[in-house]
Amino acid sequence: MTDTILKVKNVSHWFDSNRVLHNVNLDIKRGQVVALVGPSGCGKSTLLRAIVGTHPPLRGEITMRDRGEARLVTSPGRDRGIVYQRYSLFPHLTARENVAFGLMLDETGIPFRLFCRKAWKKLRKNHLEQAAEMLEKMKLGASLNKYPPEMSGGMCQRVAIAQALIMKPAALLLDEPFGALDEATREELQRILLTLYAENQTAREEGRDPPHTVVIVTHEINEAIFVSDRVVGLSQYWDWREAGETSCPGATIVYDKKAPVFSPDDERDFLSFRDQKDEILHAVFDPEFCQSYREYVALARTGSARKISNRSKR
Ligand SMILES: Nc1ncnc2c1ncn2[C@@H]1O[C@H](COP(=O)(O)OP(=O)(O)OP(=O)(O)O)[C@@H](O)[C@H]1O
Ligand SMILES: [Mg+2]
Repeated sequence: MTDTILKVKNVSHWFDSNRVLHNVNLDIKRGQVVALVGPSGCGKSTLLRAIVGTHPPLRGEITMRDRGEARLVTSPGRDRGIVYQRYSLFPHLTARENVAFGLMLDETGIPFRLFCRKAWKKLRKNHLEQAAEMLEKMKLGASLNKYPPEMSGGMCQRVAIAQALIMKPAALLLDEPFGALDEATREELQRILLTLYAENQTAREEGRDPPHTVVIVTHEINEAIFVSDRVVGLSQYWDWREAGETSCPGATIVYDKKAPVFSPDDERDFLSFRDQKDEILHAVFDPEFCQSYREYVALARTGSARKISNRSKR
């Protein structure tokens, strides 16, 4: 039940002379909701794109393990769903049709739709019912037949999440999904993520596999701690000199710790985790603070949460 579903091993990536990621190692277990934070431009989206498979890393490997089978990630696949900051819904389809679209592509082909009209009609009805159920979960039950131009940004983003979730991805990847939303809408969406986490907990209690494994990139540290059960910090601010490098070889993981778990109805009390926020600001975002390389290597080997120590100043 605590098996690794996504493994990032020694991943490095660069664009010409711009070295972006250096030896990134990350094990994500089934049912975890991991928030990935880091300074702007450190390579969070690059890492996510490598996991999605649209831009595989130049060095290292990424493996997905679903139902016992391990597969090297070399291209996008339905085991990984992605939602970006800017939703890309089809404007001429309703919310429900947008959500059912992926199922249609996955389960039917044009010949089936053209020549097996009766079977297709039945399957279509089933897809639309599943889509309605998913939108209900996203609290959009009253907007099933609305078109994207008739919905707010927050509503569209919920449709985009439903679109990804309906495909039952082994890992759901979110790249700054709430970045364009106002604070109140952002909070609503954060609570939807907490609902997914609560579903995981119910599944665990009932002896089932937790259904949702999520990686969310966000630059909002309060959000990261509030929605996740683990915060991972990617940063170019680590002691690469100690590793024998003459210039920064790229960002790597400098922080990896559990985060407190909240339920969807809990008050959003940011003060309750202020210490962890300060710690992340210091360890991940402060250019003056450089994580010891030796400590980083230990972190990469064990992949476990640990205390920050051996602080060094440059
Ligand atoms: N396709 C590309 N071609 C060249 N350079 C790129 C490309 N994509 C990203 N980069 C560079 O790689 C670095 C990391 O970019 P990336 O978008 O992954 O950062 P990020 O951490 O997601 O930033 P932000 O928080 O601003 O979204 C940046 O220096 C960026 O300019
Ligand atoms: Mg980005």
